[in-house]
Amino acid sequence: MRRLRIGVLFGGRSTEHEVSILSAQSIIAAMDPDRFEPIPLYIDKSGRWLVGGSLKRLSDDTARKYVYLPPDPTQRSLVLAGDGTQSPTHLAGEGAGGGLPPLDAVFPVFHGLNGEDGTIQGVLELANIPYVGAGVLGSALGLDKIYMKRAFAAAGLPIVDYLPITRRQYEHDPDAFITLVEDRIGYPCFAKFANSGSSVGTTKAHHRAELVEGLRLASTFDRKLLVERAIDARELEVSVLGNDEPQASVVGEVVPAHEFYDYEAKYLDEGSRLLIPAPIAANASEDVRSMAIQAFLAVDAAGMARVDFFMERSSGRIILNELNTIPGFTRISMYPKLWEASGLSYPRLIERLVELAIERFNDKQRSQTAIDSRLLEAETDQ
Ligand SMILES: Nc1ncnc2c1ncn2[C@@H]1O[C@H](COP(=O)(O)OP(=O)(O)O)[C@@H](O)[C@H]1O
Ligand SMILES: [Mg+2]
Repeated sequence: MRRLRIGVLFGGRSTEHEVSILSAQSIIAAMDPDRFEPIPLYIDKSGRWLVGGSLKRLSDDTARKYVYLPPDPTQRSLVLAGDGTQSPTHLAGEGAGGGLPPLDAVFPVFHGLNGEDGTIQGVLELANIPYVGAGVLGSALGLDKIYMKRAFAAAGLPIVDYLPITRRQYEHDPDAFITLVEDRIGYPCFAKFANSGSSVGTTKAHHRAELVEGLRLASTFDRKLLVERAIDARELEVSVLGNDEPQASVVGEVVPAHEFYDYEAKYLDEGSRLLIPAPIAANASEDVRSMAIQAFLAVDAAGMARVDFFMERSSGRIILNELNTIPGFTRISMYPKLWEASGLSYPRLIERLVELAIERFNDKQRSQTAIDSRLLEAETDQ
């Protein structure tokens, strides 16, 4: 069988740019060379798409070419952007200008804005190329902590008490919002912004001054803010894989090296530990796994998602924290490690995700996008 040409898209205009590079490098290195031909596609911090050159020297490689993906379902391949002075050249096969033939599928490996939020997924929908992971809606819900909670609550899933506010509303009357938070939520609490990830711009506030500072920081990143009650909890995570009938992995537990699982504790402090499986009772583990699947379906996810929970220390109560449609994906990240512990190796997981992308794509092709309309005939008759 011909090898599948997989565009691996990573980087991007996001605060999680660096994390995405680490995930993508691991994925590319693990792709079975007998089945796949990975085409690394780096999106730099200004949002430009680059192809070719070394994976190690991302910013200063002159062998790299600027490309873009036209939203044209008849092409399904990258186009050389040139230097902007000439008309774009279609990249037609290796040798002919050193270009690229059509992509069989794309694996978007972004975290955060402009990649995990439905934007890239929209481009891939228009280009009609199969891609790994959630579609436009699932991605958008997964990257909005406010609308994600609304979708969970609508599905009857337990969520943390929270108060949302727009940056403008907050700036208009900060005291009113602070008073509301103190009445309804109290301290400690978490100040975040809707599309945050990797704990960037997330503050645990123990008193008013920290809350004010936390909201100021959060409002430098996004126009939608929220404050949540801080739960004194263990943090449990489950990996979900599949499309319409998703499966849940064993449950894992994160033990952060810091007071909470902040950016440093996630990626830099080796004191943070992942316990697989989580040392919890069998019935709690079953509850968490079933809730993970319900959460996946509640936001219309597809392919993969990591679903994160709080288990309140005092009561043992399980509360949904969030769902990540493109979870950290290095070899030591929780998402693939939970599958490894469930019997699916890292390279095999990547293969399965590509298969799921193609399955979902084929299913979508069954839906008609045109009808036999007499509407225009009628118009010309009048
Ligand atoms: N309401 C909360 N109660 C307790 N801890 C929280 C709460 N919200 C966030 N945290 C801590 O902050 C971390 C990051 O918050 P999270 O909402 O998961 O955002 P991100 O998308 O950045 O991972 C969590 O893993 C947890 O350690
Ligand atoms: Mg999180």
